[in-house]
Amino acid sequence: MTQAELTSTHQQKTKKTRKIGYFNMKGGQGKSTLSENIAAALAQMGHRVLLIELDMQRNASSIYSGEIKYTLTDVLTERVGLKEAMYQARENFYIIPADTELDTAANYIVSKGRRAYKILARQIEELTDFDFILFDHSPSWSAVSETAHLASEELLVPCELEPYAIDGILSMFKKLEEHLEDHKIQLVGIIPNRVNFSSSMTSQYLQQLKDTFKEKVTPIIRIDKQIPRSQAYRETIFEHNPKSKAAADIQELAFFIISAGDNSHA
Ligand SMILES: Nc1ncnc2c1ncn2[C@@H]1O[C@H](COP(=O)(O)OP(=O)(O)O)[C@@H](O)[C@H]1O
Ligand SMILES: [Mg+2]
Repeated sequence: MTQAELTSTHQQKTKKTRKIGYFNMKGGQGKSTLSENIAAALAQMGHRVLLIELDMQRNASSIYSGEIKYTLTDVLTERVGLKEAMYQARENFYIIPADTELDTAANYIVSKGRRAYKILARQIEELTDFDFILFDHSPSWSAVSETAHLASEELLVPCELEPYAIDGILSMFKKLEEHLEDHKIQLVGIIPNRVNFSSSMTSQYLQQLKDTFKEKVTPIIRIDKQIPRSQAYRETIFEHNPKSKAAADIQELAFFIISAGDNSHA
């Protein structure tokens, strides 16, 4: 074995997969948009990324247009392993899609009891070839979301700057603490999304968010019509319009996420 091969084997063995949930119990905050496009940004930078979709609405995996045989439902009901439900969406970028039967998986987990809540955590532990595993959560709380939180170690919270946004985030943290007991999840950041400075209250809401969450507030993502347009074409923002405001903001957020990992795992 050459020195280069030895070094790369060593890096693979010591490399830690970062497992990050995108969660906010409110809909329409940017969970799917940001998990999908951050996944694309990280993949473009050469990281290997897996995006697991936890919402029956199937937003995040819409950029994959190939045939889908197995979904997360099949994984959670122990019919297939993670690898069989994994599809390559782009270079370095893999997805596990959801489907409309995901509630049957929730029922399965509840009926099987405590051990079943760790199905995903156990399977993910065996996936050693990813740098990032991202979870696109649904806004609701279920056995499926709980299973995914138990499989993740970090959390990103996309939010819009609007009245009661902070209250919603604080009560969500309380819920996580109550349900996950001794499973600790590290907050990576609160992401102000769809930020629109032409609205008069925006600066005030952003300041309140920073007063409450301090350095955990990430770089902002501005409102940009290019985002819904890219989704209509089933493209990532980088494919659709790499020069857009959204592409620049999402790229900067990807750097923030990478450096948060460097700090906590140093
Ligand atoms: N920065 C943004 N600028 C403009 N539209 C956005 C932005 N982020 C998200 N959207 C739009 O907002 C809607 C909700 O976003 P989505 O990611 O589906 O939220 P969630 O997954 O939290 O429910 C989508 O139609 C999406 O196109
Ligand atoms: Mg969503």
